[in-house]
Amino acid sequence: MSRRMLVSGNWKMNLNHLEAIQLVQKLSYELVDHDYEAVEVSVHPPFTDIRSVQTVVEADRMEFVVGAQNCHWKDSGAYTGEVSPPMLAKLNVRYVIVGHSERRQIFGETDETVNLKARAVIKHAMTPIVCVGETLEQREAGEAEATVEAQLRGSLRGISVEDLSALVVAYEPIWAIGTGRTATPDDAQAMCAHVRAVVDSIRPGAGADVRIQYGGSVKPVNAAELLSRPDIDGALVGGASLEADKFARIVSAG
Ligand code: 13P
Repeated sequence: MSRRMLVSGNWKMNLNHLEAIQLVQKLSYELVDHDYEAVEVSVHPPFTDIRSVQTVVEADRMEFVVGAQNCHWKDSGAYTGEVSPPMLAKLNVRYVIVGHSERRQIFGETDETVNLKARAVIKHAMTPIVCVGETLEQREAGEAEATVEAQLRGSLRGISVEDLSALVVAYEPIWAIGTGRTATPDDAQAMCAHVRAVVDSIRPGAGADVRIQYGGSVKPVNAAELLSRPDIDGALVGGASLEADKFARIVSAG
């Protein structure tokens, strides 16, 4: 069992394509001595930026990989405003975030649609980063583990043991996103171990290989301790991924 760390920058709805090019150039400069064998790095710009970022990454042979923040599950059709997995695959997108809590809460995504998206991403030879996480109310009611387990069972239905082993789960407690309030390393570790156990119970054998990221106010000051925990295989970074030096310091902590 050797799981390669994955540190991902989720830019959310920030930066136009010109700003995006500047950020990846700065990031590539900051990460010039980075050991990509140890930590894989992905950036997830808005759809309108992906082509520009892909072009710069490939032209300058940058080592980080391009990701997306969402997609539809159909290949094509009358779905106004949506972007399909084959469109992303054509841009050499490697990772697609699916089921981020902002999409679940603001755009009504359910475990069922997250599952359709995850399977569509896999069908097109990309890797889904499937997000799960509880609200503050659920945590305070002692329901955090059950909530995350239900999200995993619904979102990962019908995925083979091989595909589940290659997939990434991001545990992002909703109360820690954009709040500056990080889960303690012990709580994050405990939930990531729980995620691993649930994945293994869904498809025996997949738990050892599935990579599990922690997300929620990851910063340079707390990254090293979070990433040192045995079941935390990387980070999904929001705000701090918009600043090249901060994101690079988080990557270096991995
Ligand atoms: P912040 O790092 O800004 O808390 O965002 C976390 C997140 O939602 C990443 O997907």
